[in-house]
This record gives sequence, structure tokens and C-alpha cells, in this order.
Amino acid sequence: MPHDTLSKHLFHYDKQPLPWEMRVRVAYYIALALDHCNAENRKIYHDLNAYRVLFDEEGDPSLSTFGLMKNSRDGKSYSTNLAYTPPEFMRTGRVIPESVIYSYGTILLDLLSGKHIPPSHALDIIRGKSALVLMDSSLEGQYVNEDAATMIELASKCLQYEARDRPDIKFLLAAVDPLQKQKEVTSLNLMGLAKAAVVVPIMLSPLGKACERLDLTAVHDILLKTGYRDEEGADNELSFQEWTQQVQDMLNTKKFGDIAFRDKDFKNAVENYSKLVAMMPAPSATVFARRTLCYLMIGQPELALRDAMQAQVCIPEWPTAFYLQALALSKLGMEADAQDMLNDGAAFEAKRQSSWRG
Ligand SMILES: *[C@@H]1O[C@H](CO)[C@@H](O)[C@H](O)[C@H]1NC(C)=O
Repeated sequence: MPHDTLSKHLFHYDKQPLPWEMRVRVAYYIALALDHCNAENRKIYHDLNAYRVLFDEEGDPSLSTFGLMKNSRDGKSYSTNLAYTPPEFMRTGRVIPESVIYSYGTILLDLLSGKHIPPSHALDIIRGKSALVLMDSSLEGQYVNEDAATMIELASKCLQYEARDRPDIKFLLAAVDPLQKQKEVTSLNLMGLAKAAVVVPIMLSPLGKACERLDLTAVHDILLKTGYRDEEGADNELSFQEWTQQVQDMLNTKKFGDIAFRDKDFKNAVENYSKLVAMMPAPSATVFARRTLCYLMIGQPELALRDAMQAQVCIPEWPTAFYLQALALSKLGMEADAQDMLNDGAAFEAKRQSSWRG
């Protein structure tokens, strides 16, 4: 598709964040597409997520046909992002039409927040006093609070734990439609896009190159050598708390993880890093990057992709996070997305280098 995926526009855009009006349009078009699927009696769209929403030549959002191709009993239907998985799929391994509504709710969350927020966490925020703190700060001044509140409310309805409590697609269509205020403006204009796609010259770092050629051994080598050095802004100094048992446990877990990682004992590294992630007061991009590689090594590319995305959440412009996502996407057969990710990684790499020189 000429104008990339929703994921790209929301989570790693080049020039400007997707404006509010366009986000509403995306919500509306997806609802339309799902309604259309229902009319054709294809009620299950698998693993609806921001990678499945594409922008066509006109900049209009559409759903990739990818989600329609899978077998409904395919156990992998929702494995890309466990935190986003409909609860009934976790319970029964089955996808039902209401699961699609749940996933639609997660897309609404992505659109509203501009981030990957796990639904359970988002619901806590929504139930709290000021649901509007969910909103992407780059959207400030672009919407009226009532409209944002309506969208947040719709998201929370879609994310209901019990499938029967979620609204149907017709309800969602009718609710989103009136939120569109600039229907006559074309999507290309809204997004500030020209028709021709821009070609970015690629200059990959050694890690980027290793990810491009799917050389897991080289990736391992580089991650090992870089260690935690890349982690900007993270405070690796330990305070007096170092002496508490809890921190001691954490340090041991990290040490076990690091040793297992060094010795290429990837299963053990995953175990210890997973324990570490649960213990750490603030998530570490490096731990996610390392666990990404571990998952790739043990043949779990979906989990790898999720971790590489998490690494990006920790450090938004970290080239390593992009290269590793490219690697995981490539393993998942999503070559076009992988290429985008490599380009993004290279762009951020160039930006870093110019700011170091300057
Ligand atoms: C962590 O590493 C240690 C030492 O290699 C190992 O004994 C243990 O099983 C690993 N997993 C967890 C969850 O601690």
C-alpha cells in the first residue's frame, strides 16, 4: 500500500502525528469495513490491529485482507500481542464475532492515545477520574472534549470482559459517524501527504544490516557487546534501596538473565528476563531487546515482535527497537512492514549521528 500502515502513522511517523479528524475517519472506515464483512457473512476478522489497517493511494484507510484469510480455528489468531487478546480467546482459544469488537476497541485506544496501552490498564484509567489523560498529547487543541469522551466511552464498551456486553458494529458505526467534522476534506490533505511516495536512502548500522539479513547470530553478538549502554536517560545507579532484599532479588534475576543470554541459553534467558520485567520499577528497553532476540531464537516471532514494540515504547526513537521489529516482522512474513521499519531505524540512526556530531 502506498501510504503505509496505521501502526506506522501512529507509533513512528516521520513528519507529523496523525491528526484527530483522520483518526476519527480511521475509526469510521474500519467500522464500515467490518460491517461490510458481516454483510458478506465473514464475521471473523482475525487479529485486527494497527498493522492490518492500511492507507491506500488516496490516503483512505482500509483493512488488509490478511485478517480474512486465516482459519477461524487457527490457534495463532491472536498471538501477535497478548496484552491485546480478547479475554474469551485466552479462556477458550476460540474467536467469536464479539472478539472482533474487542479488537476494534484496542484500535480505538491506539487512535486515542497514540500508544500501545494494554486494555486492562486503559480501563483502569477510564474508570478513574480523568479519562482524558489517555489522550495523545500531540492532539491537544484538535478536538472538543465531548467527542474525545464519546470515543473513550466507545472504546471502553468494546473492551468489556463479557462478550455479550460489547456493542455491535452497527451501533459503533452510528456512534462514530457524527464525530466526523470534515468529511469533505480528502484524506491526503488531512494527513499532509503528497501522492508520490518519498524514497528514503538507506544507511543501516551494523545492527540494522544484521537484522536485514536475518542474521540472528550477529544480532546476538551486537546486543551482547552494546549491553545497557544505549539506554539513554535510564538511571542505572542504584540508591540505598540496593540493600533491600527485593532489589537484591532483582539484581540476581538480571544477572541470571544476562548470563543465560551470553551463553545462548535462550529459554532460560526468557524465563529470567520475564521475571525481571515483572519486578522492575521501570521497564528496560535493553531487556526487551534481548528478550526479542531470545524469542526469535526459540521460534516465537509473534512474542518477539511484541517485545521489540515494547522496547520502542521505552525509548521511542531507538534504532535498535526498529531494527528488531523489522527482523520479527520479516520472520512473520510481513516484508513490506519490515522494510518500513528498517527505513525508520536508519532515519533515526542518521538523526542520532547528526545530533552527536552537532
Ligand atoms: C534463571 O536462571 C537460573 C540460573 O541459570 C535458573 O536456575 C532458573 O531456572 C532461571 N529461571 C528463573 C525463572 O529463575
